Amino acid sequence: MAVSEQVDLGGRLVTPALIDCHTHLVHGGNRASEFEMRLQGASYEQISRAGGGIMSTVNATRGRSVEQLVAEVLPRLDAMLAEGVSTVEIKSGYGLNIETEINMLRAARRLGEIRQVRVVTTWLAAHALPPECADRADDYISEIAIQGLRRAHAQGLVDAVDGFCESIAFDRDQIARVFDAARAMGLPIRLHAEQLSNNRGAEMAARKGALSVDHLEYLDDRGIAAMARAGTVAVLLPGAYYTLRETQAPPVDALRRAKVPIAIASDANPGSSPLTSPLLTMNMACTLFGLTPAEALAGMTVNAARALGLRDRGLLQVGMRGDLAVWNVEHPAELAYRMGFNPLWKRIIGGQA
Ligand code: NIG
Ligand code: FE
Repeated sequence: MAVSEQVDLGGRLVTPALIDCHTHLVHGGNRASEFEMRLQGASYEQISRAGGGIMSTVNATRGRSVEQLVAEVLPRLDAMLAEGVSTVEIKSGYGLNIETEINMLRAARRLGEIRQVRVVTTWLAAHALPPECADRADDYISEIAIQGLRRAHAQGLVDAVDGFCESIAFDRDQIARVFDAARAMGLPIRLHAEQLSNNRGAEMAARKGALSVDHLEYLDDRGIAAMARAGTVAVLLPGAYYTLRETQAPPVDALRRAKVPIAIASDANPGSSPLTSPLLTMNMACTLFGLTPAEALAGMTVNAARALGLRDRGLLQVGMRGDLAVWNVEHPAELAYRMGFNPLWKRIIGGQA
């Protein structure tokens, strides 16, 4: 292979550029007041059942124009890029009506045009049931989650489809209907599952060939076996575990034994994980979940690419995209070791230094 250009990086450490494979970066407003309520003892579920939580961000997101959403998210995206991110996944899920869900994905696509970053979009209308559809969850799934998906997909806005399978969100059968519709459109599927309780969502998603299942604190052996069989990636989200002060960590040892690939992600969102630092995500994955620094780095590179179904990045290998991060450190473990310190020297995107 011809070498077109040589660049002197001064002996610095080079890794694949980082990939944040699970974020809710596009949204209006913030939930600092709920942070204060949780510090007074209210739980995430209590706040959600009282109409706060995801619904409070939905209220702050509906009515925002695409331009307003883009302006709000840019500083959060820039914080990630400054730490070496080259690829970021962004979900809808704070519209819960077709128009706003589509606007969120338009904003996400726009970000990929105005910054040097590949944005992978995910349709997450099955995130929560809005009050106007109370007691009509099945209708919401048909009329908003599935009909909206058809419209968004027709506009080229959807790269993958996600759902939230939990007692405060949707049950397995409801999510399965969204997944069947997605698969019929040729779209890959992913799932938020076993975060606050075990609903056997991981098993269902893996059986349907999910690229990833995410959160997984309450994942059991059957779920692990199904994920191993399907080659589904386990995406662990230590920022949500930390923010909600959860005590049950995901079953990392069992995932390792079953050879389920482990990715990690920021889950950047205004409620359960207001985290926009990939490096702190790596630190938390080590300190809270017991990953090794090498596993944390693989979790934000090669396995994150796999969770997004991207085979052209995440590894330093001939034939891969030249998306690189150059660091002012000597050893990769230093990336996960410090907190609140950014040793990035340079991002190289598509081989362009
Ligand atoms: O990944 N688990 C569900 N959804 C998000 C949280 C959304 C929110 O609280 O706004 C998550 O943690
Ligand atoms: Fe999430």
